[in-house]
Amino acid sequence: MIAITGATGNLGRATIQHLLKSVAPENITAVVRDPSKLEAVPGMQVKLADYDDYNSLVEAFRGADTLLQISSASYGDHAAMQEEQVVKAAAAAGIQHLVYTSTLQPAAIAIFDAGRSCYKTEVNIRNSGMNYTIFRNSMYLETIPLFIGEAMETGQIRYPGGEGAISFVGRDDIAAALAKVLTAPAQGGRSFNITGDRAYSFGDIARILGEERGLAASYTNISDEEFRQELEAFGMPPVAVDFYSSMAASIRNREFSMTDMTWQQFLDKPTLDVRAFLGGN
Ligand SMILES: NC(=O)c1ccc[n+]([C@@H]2O[C@H](COP(=O)([O-])OP(=O)(O)OC[C@H]3O[C@@H](n4cnc5c(N)ncnc54)[C@H](OP(=O)(O)O)[C@@H]3O)[C@@H](O)[C@H]2O)c1
Repeated sequence: MIAITGATGNLGRATIQHLLKSVAPENITAVVRDPSKLEAVPGMQVKLADYDDYNSLVEAFRGADTLLQISSASYGDHAAMQEEQVVKAAAAAGIQHLVYTSTLQPAAIAIFDAGRSCYKTEVNIRNSGMNYTIFRNSMYLETIPLFIGEAMETGQIRYPGGEGAISFVGRDDIAAALAKVLTAPAQGGRSFNITGDRAYSFGDIARILGEERGLAASYTNISDEEFRQELEAFGMPPVAVDFYSSMAASIRNREFSMTDMTWQQFLDKPTLDVRAFLGGN
């Protein structure tokens, strides 16, 4: 039995779709906090659990031998606490193989907020005694429209990314690889950097937007202060402003620039790249 947290989210939903190509729905458990958000799949098991409720997690994971732990959507210490509960609950429920979606370059001193919380979770997983596979995901291609907003139409990118480049990777490609790993025998402890074939700066993205869409595109590297003010004006709470500001600083300092194609052994088709993504969206 394969259990999946975050099953109502983008990555969880896509992974379930790939799993269903080789696994009977009866052997998949979607772990969700709001079942009304889940697309019904006849036969698939659905269990209720919240990352903030340890007992609900243990109950939801019971009977599964493999667990996909999708990283928390919370920030800072709250995210680390939620992920610690998931790891402990997985061990208590008898999970044999934990597959975790981490972030690229996790470290105790990472600039990116999630780099620090994912690092803590990775340590907890390594100390748990379970077999594990860690996917250290770079930024999704699908975040590009979120980074650049209306520049998808205007071409005028404003972001405090400096010269930092990002090895964007398509969410569906990650989901396909996760499905392969979830259905294969566990092999002790393994970690993979999940990246595209090359890294793109926001200047590169502006150039490709211009070429693919015929826009008069450009990139303006705004200051971190200006970025924070814009997020605050948007009504974003301080904890989220700090998170997105840490993300921008992380990008400027090249925490998302690494490329590593080892993980593509789990794919049977070429990955979607930035040019194809921008051309098609
Ligand atoms: N690499 C990247 O570019 C990137 C970008 C965005 C996020 N991420 C990280 O990758 C993860 C997966 O990405 P995604 O696009 O699938 O994110 P997503 O669509 O936001 O999905 C997040 C999932 O987590 C669930 N969740 C949130 N809080 C929960 C809680 N307290 N208890 C149980 N479940 C909870 C959500 O449930 P509901 O549907 O009930 O809210 C949803 O199913 C995110 O959670 C985040 O950590 C990475």
